[in-house]
Amino acid sequence: MADNFQAYAQYYDLLYKDKNYKAESEYVINLLERFHPNIHSALELGSGSGNHANFFSKKFNEIHGIERSPEMVGLSMQKNITGFSAEVGDIASFQTKKKYDAALSLFHVISYLNQNDQLISCFNSVNASLQSGGIFLFDVWYTPAVLHLRPETRVKRLENEQVVITRIAESIVHDRTNVIDVQFEVHVTQKQSGKTEVLKESHPMRHFSTPEIQLLAQLTGFDYLHSEEFLTSKMESSSTWGVCYVLKKK
Ligand SMILES: C[S@@+](CC[C@H](N)C(=O)[O-])C[C@H]1O[C@@H](n2cnc3c(N)ncnc32)[C@H](O)[C@@H]1O
Repeated sequence: MADNFQAYAQYYDLLYKDKNYKAESEYVINLLERFHPNIHSALELGSGSGNHANFFSKKFNEIHGIERSPEMVGLSMQKNITGFSAEVGDIASFQTKKKYDAALSLFHVISYLNQNDQLISCFNSVNASLQSGGIFLFDVWYTPAVLHLRPETRVKRLENEQVVITRIAESIVHDRTNVIDVQFEVHVTQKQSGKTEVLKESHPMRHFSTPEIQLLAQLTGFDYLHSEEFLTSKMESSSTWGVCYVLKKK
Protein backbone atom coordinates (compact mmCIF):
# COMPACT_ATOMS: atom_id res chain seq x y z
CA MET A 1 0.00 0.00 0.00
CA ALA A 2 1.45 3.41 -1.01
CA ASP A 3 1.95 6.34 1.41
CA ASN A 4 -1.07 8.55 1.28
CA PHE A 5 -1.20 11.28 -1.39
CA GLN A 6 1.52 9.65 -3.51
CA ALA A 7 -0.25 7.79 -6.31
CA TYR A 8 -3.53 9.43 -5.34
CA ALA A 9 -2.11 12.95 -5.90
CA GLN A 10 -2.24 12.84 -9.71
CA TYR A 11 -6.02 12.34 -9.62
CA TYR A 12 -6.67 14.65 -6.63
CA ASP A 13 -8.13 17.61 -8.55
CA LEU A 14 -10.32 15.29 -10.63
CA LEU A 15 -11.57 13.44 -7.52
CA TYR A 16 -12.52 16.74 -5.88
CA LYS A 17 -13.63 18.69 -8.95
CA ASP A 18 -17.09 19.17 -7.39
CA LYS A 19 -15.75 20.46 -4.09
CA ASN A 20 -16.63 24.13 -3.79
CA TYR A 21 -13.23 25.58 -2.87
CA LYS A 22 -14.43 29.11 -3.63
CA ALA A 23 -17.32 28.93 -1.15
CA GLU A 24 -15.12 27.23 1.45
CA SER A 25 -12.39 29.87 1.10
CA GLU A 26 -14.92 32.72 1.40
CA TYR A 27 -16.42 31.04 4.47
CA VAL A 28 -12.95 30.73 6.06
CA ILE A 29 -12.06 34.36 5.28
CA ASN A 30 -15.33 35.59 6.85
CA LEU A 31 -14.80 33.48 9.96
CA LEU A 32 -11.19 34.68 10.28
CA GLU A 33 -12.29 38.32 9.97
CA ARG A 34 -14.70 37.87 12.89
CA PHE A 35 -11.75 37.19 15.16
CA HIS A 36 -8.89 39.14 13.49
CA PRO A 37 -9.66 42.07 11.18
CA ASN A 38 -6.11 42.50 9.81
CA ILE A 39 -4.88 39.28 8.27
CA HIS A 40 -2.25 39.81 5.59
CA SER A 41 -0.29 36.58 5.77
CA ALA A 42 -1.31 32.98 6.34
CA LEU A 43 0.41 29.66 6.82
CA GLU A 44 -1.46 26.73 5.33
CA LEU A 45 -0.87 23.28 6.85
CA GLY A 46 -1.45 20.47 4.35
CA SER A 47 -1.87 22.93 1.48
CA GLY A 48 -2.44 20.06 -0.96
CA SER A 49 -2.80 21.05 -4.60
CA GLY A 50 -3.29 24.75 -3.68
CA ASN A 51 -7.03 24.93 -4.31
CA HIS A 52 -7.83 27.03 -1.22
CA ALA A 53 -4.65 29.12 -1.61
CA ASN A 54 -5.85 30.03 -5.10
CA PHE A 55 -8.77 31.92 -3.51
CA PHE A 56 -6.92 33.10 -0.38
CA SER A 57 -4.41 34.82 -2.65
CA LYS A 58 -7.16 37.26 -3.69
CA LYS A 59 -7.41 38.41 -0.06
CA PHE A 60 -4.02 37.84 1.59
CA ASN A 61 -0.63 39.13 0.40
CA GLU A 62 1.21 35.99 1.36
CA ILE A 63 0.30 32.32 1.84
CA HIS A 64 2.89 29.68 2.65
CA GLY A 65 2.07 25.99 2.52
CA ILE A 66 3.62 23.12 4.44
CA GLU A 67 2.73 19.89 2.72
CA ARG A 68 4.10 16.36 3.20
CA SER A 69 3.52 15.08 -0.32
CA PRO A 70 6.07 16.32 -2.89
CA GLU A 71 3.53 15.40 -5.61
CA MET A 72 0.93 17.72 -4.06
CA VAL A 73 3.49 20.54 -3.60
CA GLY A 74 4.36 20.14 -7.28
CA LEU A 75 0.70 20.42 -8.31
CA SER A 76 0.20 23.55 -6.19
CA MET A 77 3.32 25.29 -7.52
CA GLN A 78 2.31 24.54 -11.14
CA LYS A 79 -0.76 26.76 -10.57
CA ASN A 80 1.46 29.89 -10.24
CA ILE A 81 -0.70 31.39 -7.51
CA THR A 82 0.23 35.01 -6.70
CA GLY A 83 1.82 35.34 -3.25
CA PHE A 84 1.83 31.58 -2.69
CA SER A 85 4.81 29.40 -1.88
CA ALA A 86 4.96 25.86 -0.54
CA GLU A 87 7.54 23.54 0.94
CA VAL A 88 7.64 19.81 1.52
CA GLY A 89 7.39 19.32 5.28
CA ASP A 90 5.63 17.58 8.12
CA ILE A 91 3.05 19.65 9.98
CA ALA A 92 3.74 17.52 13.08
CA SER A 93 6.98 19.42 13.53
CA PHE A 94 8.15 22.45 11.60
CA GLN A 95 9.72 25.88 11.88
CA THR A 96 9.02 28.95 9.79
CA LYS A 97 11.35 31.80 8.90
CA LYS A 98 8.69 34.44 9.64
CA LYS A 99 5.59 34.83 11.76
CA TYR A 100 2.12 34.80 10.21
CA ASP A 101 -1.20 36.44 11.12
CA ALA A 102 -3.11 33.18 10.71
CA ALA A 103 -2.56 29.45 10.32
CA LEU A 104 -5.14 27.43 8.39
CA SER A 105 -5.53 23.70 7.95
CA LEU A 106 -8.47 22.66 5.81
CA PHE A 107 -10.18 19.47 4.69
CA HIS A 108 -9.44 17.47 7.84
CA VAL A 109 -5.64 17.69 7.58
CA ILE A 110 -5.26 17.76 11.40
CA SER A 111 -7.14 14.44 11.50
CA TYR A 112 -4.12 12.91 9.69
CA LEU A 113 -2.19 13.41 12.95
CA ASN A 114 -3.20 10.34 14.93
CA GLN A 115 -0.87 10.53 17.95
CA ASN A 116 -1.05 12.89 20.92
CA ASP A 117 2.65 13.75 20.71
CA GLN A 118 2.29 14.67 17.00
CA LEU A 119 -0.67 16.91 17.84
CA ILE A 120 1.07 18.68 20.72
CA SER A 121 4.16 19.19 18.59
CA CYS A 122 2.06 20.48 15.66
CA PHE A 123 0.13 22.96 17.82
CA ASN A 124 3.40 24.14 19.44
CA SER A 125 4.93 24.62 15.97
CA VAL A 126 1.87 26.58 14.84
CA ASN A 127 2.02 28.72 17.97
CA ALA A 128 5.69 29.54 17.34
CA SER A 129 4.92 30.49 13.72
CA LEU A 130 2.14 32.98 14.60
CA GLN A 131 2.23 36.64 15.62
CA SER A 132 0.84 37.32 19.08
CA GLY A 133 -2.97 37.25 18.76
CA GLY A 134 -2.68 35.17 15.57
CA ILE A 135 -5.53 32.81 14.68
CA PHE A 136 -5.33 29.04 14.14
CA LEU A 137 -8.37 27.79 12.19
CA PHE A 138 -8.86 24.14 11.20
CA ASP A 139 -11.54 21.54 10.58
CA VAL A 140 -11.44 17.96 11.86
CA TRP A 141 -13.60 14.87 12.06
CA TYR A 142 -15.91 15.22 15.07
CA THR A 143 -16.17 12.32 17.53
CA PRO A 144 -19.89 12.62 18.38
CA ALA A 145 -20.82 12.36 14.68
CA VAL A 146 -18.37 9.55 13.89
CA LEU A 147 -19.75 7.50 16.79
CA HIS A 148 -23.35 8.32 15.93
CA LEU A 149 -23.25 7.97 12.13
CA ARG A 150 -20.35 5.47 11.78
CA PRO A 151 -18.33 5.50 8.54
CA GLU A 152 -19.92 3.84 5.51
CA THR A 153 -18.38 2.26 2.42
CA ARG A 154 -18.57 4.84 -0.36
CA VAL A 155 -18.07 4.60 -4.12
CA LYS A 156 -17.27 7.65 -6.26
CA ARG A 157 -17.13 7.64 -10.07
CA LEU A 158 -15.52 10.40 -12.14
CA GLU A 159 -14.04 10.95 -15.55
CA ASN A 160 -12.21 13.45 -17.73
CA GLU A 161 -11.08 13.24 -21.38
CA GLN A 162 -8.31 10.75 -20.54
CA VAL A 163 -9.51 8.50 -17.70
CA VAL A 164 -12.49 6.94 -15.95
CA ILE A 165 -12.02 6.62 -12.20
CA THR A 166 -13.86 4.53 -9.64
CA ARG A 167 -12.83 5.12 -6.03
CA ILE A 168 -13.96 2.75 -3.29
CA ALA A 169 -13.51 3.92 0.30
CA GLU A 170 -13.82 1.30 3.05
CA SER A 171 -13.25 2.06 6.71
CA ILE A 172 -11.78 0.10 9.58
CA VAL A 173 -12.84 1.56 12.92
CA HIS A 174 -10.35 1.63 15.81
CA ASP A 175 -12.40 2.68 18.81
CA ARG A 176 -9.55 2.55 21.31
CA THR A 177 -7.49 5.15 19.44
CA ASN A 178 -10.26 7.29 17.88
CA VAL A 179 -8.82 6.45 14.46
CA ILE A 180 -10.70 5.39 11.35
CA ASP A 181 -8.50 3.74 8.77
CA VAL A 182 -9.95 4.75 5.40
CA GLN A 183 -8.77 2.31 2.74
CA PHE A 184 -9.00 3.80 -0.73
CA GLU A 185 -8.94 1.61 -3.81
CA VAL A 186 -8.82 3.69 -6.97
CA HIS A 187 -9.44 2.00 -10.33
CA VAL A 188 -8.13 4.13 -13.18
CA THR A 189 -9.03 3.16 -16.75
CA GLN A 190 -7.26 4.94 -19.62
CA LYS A 191 -9.90 5.72 -22.21
CA GLN A 192 -7.58 5.35 -25.19
CA SER A 193 -5.90 2.04 -24.33
CA GLY A 194 -8.66 0.57 -22.14
CA LYS A 195 -5.96 -0.40 -19.60
CA THR A 196 -6.90 -0.29 -15.90
CA GLU A 197 -4.53 0.19 -12.97
CA VAL A 198 -5.53 -0.12 -9.33
CA LEU A 199 -4.03 2.23 -6.73
CA LYS A 200 -4.36 1.51 -3.02
CA GLU A 201 -3.81 3.96 -0.18
CA SER A 202 -4.62 3.95 3.51
CA HIS A 203 -5.64 7.23 5.19
CA PRO A 204 -5.80 6.82 8.99
CA MET A 205 -8.02 9.64 10.29
CA ARG A 206 -8.41 10.62 13.94
CA HIS A 207 -11.62 12.20 15.21
CA PHE A 208 -11.79 14.73 18.02
CA SER A 209 -14.14 15.96 20.71
CA THR A 210 -14.26 19.61 21.78
CA PRO A 211 -12.70 18.99 25.23
CA GLU A 212 -9.71 17.33 23.49
CA ILE A 213 -9.20 20.39 21.30
CA GLN A 214 -9.57 22.64 24.34
CA LEU A 215 -6.96 20.58 26.19
CA LEU A 216 -4.58 20.77 23.23
CA ALA A 217 -5.11 24.54 23.05
CA GLN A 218 -4.43 24.90 26.77
CA LEU A 219 -1.23 22.84 26.54
CA THR A 220 0.21 24.77 23.60
CA GLY A 221 -0.46 28.45 24.34
CA PHE A 222 -3.80 29.06 22.62
CA ASP A 223 -7.15 30.39 23.78
CA TYR A 224 -10.08 28.42 22.46
CA LEU A 225 -12.44 30.89 20.75
CA HIS A 226 -15.09 29.10 18.74
CA SER A 227 -16.40 25.97 17.02
CA GLU A 228 -19.16 25.34 14.48
CA GLU A 229 -20.10 23.09 11.59
CA PHE A 230 -17.69 23.73 8.72
CA LEU A 231 -19.26 25.80 5.93
CA THR A 232 -22.85 26.02 7.29
CA SER A 233 -21.89 27.77 10.58
CA LYS A 234 -24.55 25.70 12.34
CA MET A 235 -23.92 24.61 15.88
CA GLU A 236 -22.10 21.27 15.77
CA SER A 237 -24.12 18.18 16.66
CA SER A 238 -23.91 14.39 16.51
CA SER A 239 -24.65 14.74 12.77
CA THR A 240 -21.73 17.11 12.07
CA TRP A 241 -18.89 15.14 10.53
CA GLY A 242 -16.59 18.13 9.99
CA VAL A 243 -16.23 20.74 12.73
CA CYS A 244 -14.27 23.95 12.38
CA TYR A 245 -12.29 25.23 15.39
CA VAL A 246 -10.86 28.69 15.93
CA LEU A 247 -8.03 29.23 18.42
CA LYS A 248 -6.06 32.39 19.22
CA LYS A 249 -2.41 32.58 20.20
CA LYS A 250 -2.14 34.03 23.74
C1 LIG B 1 -7.51 15.79 2.19
S1 LIG B 1 -6.03 16.51 1.64
C2 LIG B 1 -6.40 18.25 1.82
C3 LIG B 1 -5.55 19.13 0.93
C4 LIG B 1 -6.00 20.58 0.87
N1 LIG B 1 -5.97 21.19 2.18
C5 LIG B 1 -7.39 20.66 0.28
O1 LIG B 1 -8.30 21.15 0.97
O2 LIG B 1 -7.56 20.26 -0.88
C6 LIG B 1 -4.93 16.24 3.01
C7 LIG B 1 -3.54 16.82 2.76
O3 LIG B 1 -2.81 16.82 3.97
C8 LIG B 1 -1.48 16.40 3.68
N2 LIG B 1 -0.91 15.87 4.93
C9 LIG B 1 -1.34 14.82 5.65
N3 LIG B 1 -0.56 14.64 6.72
C10 LIG B 1 0.40 15.61 6.67
C11 LIG B 1 1.51 15.94 7.49
N4 LIG B 1 1.80 15.24 8.60
N5 LIG B 1 2.28 16.99 7.15
C12 LIG B 1 2.00 17.71 6.02
N6 LIG B 1 0.96 17.44 5.20
C13 LIG B 1 0.17 16.40 5.53
C14 LIG B 1 -1.65 15.36 2.59
O4 LIG B 1 -0.43 15.13 1.90
C15 LIG B 1 -2.73 16.01 1.74
O5 LIG B 1 -2.22 16.87 0.77
